[in-house]
Amino acid sequence: MKRTPLLAFLFLLQLKDIAAGITVPQTPPSGAVTVDQSLLSVSIEFFTLPGYTQIQATSNCLENLAELRGAPPAIRIGGTTQDRATYNPNLASAVNYTVATPADAPASLTYGPSFFTLAGQLKGDVTVGLNRQLNNQAASLAAAVQAKKTMGNLFAFELGNEPEFYASNSAIIPKGQSWNQDTDAASQKSWFTTFSSSVGDMFQGAVYLSWSAGGLLSRIGTDGERFLKSISRHSYPQSACGGASTNLPNLMSHSGIVSYTKQYKSEAASTHAAGLRYFLGETNSATCGGGGISPTFGAALWIVDYSLQAALNGVDRLYFHQGTIGNCAYCFWGTSSVFAPYFGAAFVSEFFGTEPNTRLAMLDDGTSALATYALYSSSSNTLLRLLIVNSNYFSGSGARPVSTVAFTQSVVRNGNVTAKRMTAASATAVSGVTIGGAAAFTSTCARTGTPALESVRVDGNGAFSVSLLASEALIVFE
Ligand SMILES: *[C@@H]1O[C@H](CO)[C@@H](O)[C@H](O)[C@H]1NC(C)=O
Ligand SMILES: *[C@@H]1O[C@H](CO)[C@@H](O)[C@H](O)[C@H]1NC(C)=O
Repeated sequence: MKRTPLLAFLFLLQLKDIAAGITVPQTPPSGAVTVDQSLLSVSIEFFTLPGYTQIQATSNCLENLAELRGAPPAIRIGGTTQDRATYNPNLASAVNYTVATPADAPASLTYGPSFFTLAGQLKGDVTVGLNRQLNNQAASLAAAVQAKKTMGNLFAFELGNEPEFYASNSAIIPKGQSWNQDTDAASQKSWFTTFSSSVGDMFQGAVYLSWSAGGLLSRIGTDGERFLKSISRHSYPQSACGGASTNLPNLMSHSGIVSYTKQYKSEAASTHAAGLRYFLGETNSATCGGGGISPTFGAALWIVDYSLQAALNGVDRLYFHQGTIGNCAYCFWGTSSVFAPYFGAAFVSEFFGTEPNTRLAMLDDGTSALATYALYSSSSNTLLRLLIVNSNYFSGSGARPVSTVAFTQSVVRNGNVTAKRMTAASATAVSGVTIGGAAAFTSTCARTGTPALESVRVDGNGAFSVSLLASEALIVFE
């Protein structure tokens, strides 16, 4: 057949999307990392905690993840409003504030002892963010003492949130002194020292967005590190602040995620060298509430690939931030809905499964749109599952391209393996996401629908291939 140049070009394009056979190592390859069972965790904006505890979806959505992982997600309570909150030991309600409309976050608030009663009822490790910006050390210390007394699930305290953005007239900044990472580190160390004599050494340091978290450790030294359990770095790949534009194809791009998450590798290593845990202690797709990209199925695919890449770079946990109820583009759930990003959280949790200490490896070179991962059992050292993400962006119009990924060396020979697909009508879809064709969540985050498993034929040499449409993900169960 004589091809026109255009057809030949299209044929080549199509070929390019068929990855050459990927050899699946039968035991964890070098570079495989051990995955924390609470890798996928949740951050709750400080003032919203009582509101979230009143929503049925909160306990159900967290419980689903706990069932899939065999351990509950960790919870961090904090954010901008932690540095606007003042503890009042005589306040009868959990929080008190006034806002012009329910969509607003309060400019100032007080909270009382029952705040910690609610926090104490959460499952999993809980980290509590306290106020440093207002320099009311007595109030924050009284809160820490109350939290320690009330919460059996307490993991650590943060003292201040993103201090690099403190306004120059913040009370914590001594008059006439400049505020920079040196002065902040000295302030953090001084507060840790004071608080530790009442509550012990249980702090989460740094809590920076733009300053290097490793920079805190070098500044406070080993006598400062002894107060800490963990280091927190905040991470948002994009910004919607001040009307800034966001970009979904960039967010979900596999090669983009690979290069973005590499920035955390060295500070994760220095944190681990200090004997501490390294967390992305507040993260989501875009700052300032999220912009148009955050509630989409593309963001669900981003959550899958981003969590895996973070783990490969030494991040022990990612705390996906949940903001103002009813005004939160990137949230997993709201008062009466479960949003598309939550499907990504559930899907990656299912890939990890309930076994502790599983080991994760990336099988591709990080330069294409196709992400491939393998997960291994630590007890038997054997291959458990594969995960493939086709991060090619499908806008919803035109033909939806398909990519085929060939694997050699399945555990199975001359038989079938099963697979489960996460899909939606397009990357921009904000509803209609399914796992296994049917599985979804009710408005209160109860699991609904029976997922269908696909059957994939494996030849006598253990070779097989799977096909994914642009903007889809697939788990292969070995
Ligand atoms: C609650 O806050 C409002 C201001 O937002 C204040 O007027 C009121 O006195 C506070 N209530 C209590 C019990 O502190
Ligand atoms: C194996 O998978 C193929 C499709 O990949 C399917 O046609 C066949 O029915 C499956 N066999 C079994 C026994 O499930």
